[in-house]
Amino acid sequence: MNRVDPPSIVNIADLRAAARKRLPRVVFDYIDGGADAEWTMRENARVFDDVLLRPRSAVATASVDLRTTVLGQSIELPFLLAPVGSSRLFWPRGEEVAARAGGEAGTIYTLSTLSGCPVGDVKAATRGPVWYQLCLVGGRDVAMGGIARAKAAGCSALVVTVDTPVAGNRERDVRNGTKELVSGAPFTMLPYVFQFLARPRWLAAFLADGGLMKFPNVMLKDGPMPYADVGAALEQSMVSWDDFTWIREAWQGPIVVKGVHTADDARRAIDHGAAAMVVSNHGGRQLDGVAPTLRVLPEVIAAVDGRAEVLIDGGIRRGSDVVKALCLGARAVLIGRAFAYALGAAGGPGVTRAIDILRSGIVRTMKLLGAASVRDLDRSFVQIPGDWLK
Ligand SMILES: Cc1cc2nc3c(=O)[nH]c(=O)nc-3n(C[C@H](O)[C@H](O)[C@H](O)COP(=O)(O)O)c2cc1C
Repeated sequence: MNRVDPPSIVNIADLRAAARKRLPRVVFDYIDGGADAEWTMRENARVFDDVLLRPRSAVATASVDLRTTVLGQSIELPFLLAPVGSSRLFWPRGEEVAARAGGEAGTIYTLSTLSGCPVGDVKAATRGPVWYQLCLVGGRDVAMGGIARAKAAGCSALVVTVDTPVAGNRERDVRNGTKELVSGAPFTMLPYVFQFLARPRWLAAFLADGGLMKFPNVMLKDGPMPYADVGAALEQSMVSWDDFTWIREAWQGPIVVKGVHTADDARRAIDHGAAAMVVSNHGGRQLDGVAPTLRVLPEVIAAVDGRAEVLIDGGIRRGSDVVKALCLGARAVLIGRAFAYALGAAGGPGVTRAIDILRSGIVRTMKLLGAASVRDLDRSFVQIPGDWLK
């Protein structure tokens, strides 16, 4: 299924529908789902409706400039690809494929620790920059190994995710038998395997890519961590602010803290050496009931007061969403599901199509607003609810 052009694919929702058609339910729901009642996940996207645009009409903006810099790195677009674990379930060599598409578009790909492709292979697959997202599965020594490999591969920033002291309660994963399917025990798996047979094209591609995987970026004493162990490993992978001391020492490069929700944590992140932070609630996959990210962006920007770069993710499905986040002061945004659906729907061409949809949406919105460059976007182009600034 590589038909990603109009009229079949017009927006990100179409890519989501195409992913649903190609992927087994357990894989689609892994991408699409959130924690508990999924309120935060839905609100992340809905809250963009609360921000109204205020255009300047009759301004000639023949061309618009989307280029910006993040941590001193020039990028062609004001959005990056967020860390999305296990992308190799969506498409063969999924992490390499997505990184390549991101690099061709001139932006950054963030590789999750919990990926199916080794960091060296992913970096080699793209001409774009790669950031490495760290979680402490397997403990400190294992994480140090991951940091060393990311450094050797040439990753340019380390993204430390701080909102995962325990895995979120994703009810869809429980219903679909995710835990049973990764157990490797045939009788345990049996009640759930039929969803794979309903997607034979996916299954053939998955098996040809090596089938059930291990995590090559989590090197334990006896080799890469098997999938079956991820649940238990996540339970023990808590990161605390004290860990930033050894992380900073081991990495010796720019650190991005991902998972900031409040002014207090924003200040704490700076105190612990963050050069940038991502206002993120993990796409509503962790603590359900936290505020949507756009809602807390003004609070975080005010607390940071220019001392670090502030990025945001969550719920971005349209170019106008990106523009609204930039108007509220984000340096750039990260997209998660928007590219994950696309990868699951159609591999590399899918990711390229998702990027094109967002890029053209940003360009159109900026022309309609009368803004010639992302550097010109500010609060004057939006109207936000009064209580957001209190
Ligand atoms: C399938 C999936 C897997 C994810 N895996 C990770 C991960 O391994 N590490 C991490 O920090 N965030 C992970 N995230 C969260 C994303 O990096 C990002 O914060 C979130 O997807 C943004 O929301 P959006 O999907 O609405 O764009 C994952 C998200 C999805 C959808």
